[in-house]
Amino acid sequence: MKLQEKYQELRKKHAALLATNFYNFETLRGILQSASLNKNPVILQLTESSIDYMGLPVAVNMAKSAIQHYGVEAWLHLDHAGSYELVEKCLDAGFDSVMIDASERPLKDNIALTKKVVKLAGRYGVCVEAELGYIAKLDQSTDYTGFTEPEDAKSFVEETGVDALAIAIGTAHGFYKKKPELDIERLSRIHAVTNAALVLHGGSGVPHSTLTEAIRRGICKINIATEIKNIFMQTLRNRLMHESEIDLRKLFPFAIQAVTNLVSEKLKIINS
Ligand code: 13P
Ligand code: ZN
Repeated sequence: MKLQEKYQELRKKHAALLATNFYNFETLRGILQSASLNKNPVILQLTESSIDYMGLPVAVNMAKSAIQHYGVEAWLHLDHAGSYELVEKCLDAGFDSVMIDASERPLKDNIALTKKVVKLAGRYGVCVEAELGYIAKLDQSTDYTGFTEPEDAKSFVEETGVDALAIAIGTAHGFYKKKPELDIERLSRIHAVTNAALVLHGGSGVPHSTLTEAIRRGICKINIATEIKNIFMQTLRNRLMHESEIDLRKLFPFAIQAVTNLVSEKLKIINS
């Protein structure tokens, strides 16, 4: 099933998909092992830096063959693309879904670029996500808030024709210094006036009860990246501190298993 069709199904059911970023074969395997174990669908995300790290054809082929190997329903999604050119390359490479993130540009430029991407992706039958509002990136301040206005969201979705929309309601990328407070009422108002699938970025560290409430109020996709990187590296670090093993095939499985456990925990919450 195409992701855009899945989103419509999820919207009706007030259900959501977990979208997790992967960085190498090991994190990819950890995520897919969990999806397979739990029999849950999942979105696999790549950012431009992960694509640069692995190489576009290697990353795409690895993801697609791993999806087949683990026998799960999964989609390959481009996360936070900043340019039309990157989107085009990824569409040619076989992505199922792309995000164009022009949220830092003036509203009319965000609309214009998103519209152009929707037109292009339409030729490939691929799903498009865009972003409206200020969701702090890893290097950005969380002091400033620029929450998404329901009226803006309504006209943005109507004008651009996007399938999914990332909204700013109180989350930020990376770990939180203090517990995130989500503007749940705003989410409900946005949900009432748009028909796009609403996306929650910055899912790492959001309390599980808040994730459940966000799904109930209309979030269809929950993005988690930082927690994946963190559990993988922490597990590896702990092993390396106490062992002199140099066979990476004996040590990586511990980190892979930790990713599998983390993803299983998230899948249980999101699919309950
Ligand atoms: P976190 O890294 O905070 O989990 O955010 C993930 C994300 O939004 C990816 O686009
Ligand atoms: Zn994000």
